[in-house]
Amino acid sequence: MNKYYWIVTYGCQMNVHESEKIAGILRSCGYTEGTCQEKADIIVFNTCCIRENAENHAYGNIGALKKLKKQRRDLIIAVGGCMTQQVGAAEKLKKKFPFVDIVFGTHNLSSFGQMIEKKLSTKKTIVDIWDKESAVDHEDISYRTSYPNAWVNIMYGCNNFCSYCIVPYVRGRERSRDSEDIIKEVNTLLDSGYKEITLLGQNVNSYGNDRGECTFPQLLQKICSRKEKFRLRFMTSNPKDFGEELVRVIAENEQICNLVHLPVQAGSDRILKLMNRKYTAKEYLEKVEMLRKYVPDCQLTTDIMVGFPTETEEDFQQTLSLVKEANFSTAFTFVYSKRSGTVAATMDGQISEEIKKDRIMRLVDLVNQQTRRLSATYEGRTIEILCEDFDDKRGQYLGRDEYGRMGYFQADRNLIGEFVKIKIDKTSGVSLEGTLAE
Ligand code: SAH
Ligand code: SF4
Ligand code: F3S
Repeated sequence: MNKYYWIVTYGCQMNVHESEKIAGILRSCGYTEGTCQEKADIIVFNTCCIRENAENHAYGNIGALKKLKKQRRDLIIAVGGCMTQQVGAAEKLKKKFPFVDIVFGTHNLSSFGQMIEKKLSTKKTIVDIWDKESAVDHEDISYRTSYPNAWVNIMYGCNNFCSYCIVPYVRGRERSRDSEDIIKEVNTLLDSGYKEITLLGQNVNSYGNDRGECTFPQLLQKICSRKEKFRLRFMTSNPKDFGEELVRVIAENEQICNLVHLPVQAGSDRILKLMNRKYTAKEYLEKVEMLRKYVPDCQLTTDIMVGFPTETEEDFQQTLSLVKEANFSTAFTFVYSKRSGTVAATMDGQISEEIKKDRIMRLVDLVNQQTRRLSATYEGRTIEILCEDFDDKRGQYLGRDEYGRMGYFQADRNLIGEFVKIKIDKTSGVSLEGTLAE
């Protein structure tokens, strides 16, 4: 009889990719992907704890399974990912949701298969969280869900300790993968028809610092020695390490998308210092200028936070002016969320919810104006997109241009995995609609 799995993923692309690894493990344990949560034999929550609402979301959804678990005692519920890796989180989970069967952390994903076997044979609750990163991260990816794009980890962990951020505590110290292994993985993916590779790391610019054999720009250059058509993306770049060598490589290699995600976080030097970001607003803007000099048709996206402890209206105004000056094509905007264990959580001057709400609304408004203005410039233009899916509701195919902008179009044959040209007839917010041009 078939056994089904269902995975619920929260958080960043790294977690989405990790869910592919989890799916691979589940498949090797004999499970196949289910069609809905209610019919699954094992449900896995791959959690995030970057902000409080990400955690609340997961807690709510796990709690909602109490009834289902009562009806189906043999259902296995597993919780893993960043949330479980926080100090005291496993105990909290066990207490709040005694019906959860397996709790695992970010450092021992490789043993998830054994945990399932142990659960099946002993029927006991399994809680297995490692304090420290393991010597070898789980790199066995037998299953992918995002054709024609493929994610490839180039490094794990983070050494930066930005004062607001939980990631270094739940993902451990920076460790880069062997460059030959990465290139082998990329080559295998391209050979099997993938058209877009996204390299993943919390700070890709410090790739290789711990190995001393290959820097990030060198890695990109090596990957681009393949001459066929494909797209290469990466995230995330920390502005403090974003330099000219990388910009040159972006400019010189056609495969590297002319889109850089460069999280700025704030426009006030005082706040940036308190955040431990190690650059000033001026330095950030100088890097943007350098990027635009080498890659004139480049687009820039960013992450911005409002309501960091002690942020004044004047600090916030500086963020708004930086957003205007940098002219981001879009920005991911966040309200600062206090994360226990981080330096910022102990700072005086936490900002009220009311002020945070007011600032985020003003920021989002400005960002939306900029995004719409840029979208409008697409009207009537013909752009190249990589077709990635079919939207049943709209009855249209969809794909992204090199800047990540979504375009919808009609076609009478399956074009998924192909580069196509579409002429844009309509723009709305961030998305585009067009007609096949050839
Ligand atoms: N490594 C990436 C960011 C990973 S987290 C980098 O350095 O840029 C993604 C984004 O979440 C961050 O850029 C930041 O804007 C936001 N974020 C991180 N911690 C947060 C917190 N405590 N509250 C609100 N937003 C946060
Ligand atoms: Fe967090 Fe900073 Fe590391 Fe990014 S670089 S993951 S924001 S600590
Ligand atoms: Fe990603 Fe959230 Fe962890 S943003 S690294 S899943 S805390």
